[in-house]
Amino acid sequence: MTFSVGVIAGPYKEPSEQQSEEAIGAGIFFWQAFQNGLYHLLPDVLNALTGVYLRDPNDSITAGYLAAAHAWKLSERARFDEIPPTITDHATLARKYFAEKVRMEPDNSHFIGFLGSLMMSEGDVHADERLIKRGFKTLLKASRMHPEFNYVTTALTISGGMAESLPTADSKLYKLSLEWQWDTMELCFGEDIDRDSPDVSAYLHMETHDGPQSVCWNSEIAPHKFEGFFLNMGDMLVKAGDWQTAQKIYANARLSKTYNVWQFAPVLEQRIVDAEINVDLFNKHPGPNGKFEKPMMAQSEFSCTGCHQH
Ligand code: HEC
Repeated sequence: MTFSVGVIAGPYKEPSEQQSEEAIGAGIFFWQAFQNGLYHLLPDVLNALTGVYLRDPNDSITAGYLAAAHAWKLSERARFDEIPPTITDHATLARKYFAEKVRMEPDNSHFIGFLGSLMMSEGDVHADERLIKRGFKTLLKASRMHPEFNYVTTALTISGGMAESLPTADSKLYKLSLEWQWDTMELCFGEDIDRDSPDVSAYLHMETHDGPQSVCWNSEIAPHKFEGFFLNMGDMLVKAGDWQTAQKIYANARLSKTYNVWQFAPVLEQRIVDAEINVDLFNKHPGPNGKFEKPMMAQSEFSCTGCHQH
């Protein structure tokens, strides 16, 4: 199924040709907070970005960062000792600003994927099955445009989940999104992956910073994408019960040239040790307070910063 941007986001809106100095500054502030994991600065980041957006609602760059800042707030809610109920407002606001971004940049496959993801989260908050389905279809559309990127967005969405409709390991949706992680590896590395021995050292020479496969590798924007991808995929395999394959998938992260400076390397090392005992823990639903006993990456306080923090 295909649909025009008008159906998912609203009618086209012309993006501004230039950003104000203030808007550029607010964007830099966002990236500094994000890539240094300074979650506590989010109220100030949101004020700065919202302020410049209100002065120029046609600034598509600001709309994208503002949406991402709300998504970060929601996604890393595990950082709170007590998650405030109003955290869910960020699903609605992120979805709204992603929609504004997509109205102005209707071919931006990354942001169409983010929009689909947040439509699913918002639908979840409001028990709106139809919105959840439309969100998933939007993710499918984005995945056809750029699978190497959006298969991963889909996986983070499905395994992150919200309280009520968190897909179980034996659900069709969960199995499909895990299958897409194998597909992502095949698209990134250009051949079938041996699932009994999924070591990727033979492909490291393929690293590229151009074209659709650039998102498979670490970059300035996502300095630990390579490590984060394997941490998330390992967690998904553990939840599916295949902890032995998970250990081999986790181990791929160690092949990154910057593994030793990745903040979450100790987490990954512990995941390899605990793989078997995490099978049960990763299948638990969150408590009434919204907290997971043992969050998977996509449910954790590093669900974005796992790839984006320097
Ligand atoms: C599995 C790793 C991974 C995780 C987790 C992740 N990202 Fe990303 N993100 C990437 C990659 C890869 C790119 C593209 C990098 C590039 O273009 O160099 C990206 C790009 C972005 C961009 C820039 C998009 C653009 O095209 O301009 C934003 C904003 C962003 N991510 C926000 C987030 C937020 C918010 C979260 C958490 C909800 C998140 N990311 C989680 C890997 C990740």
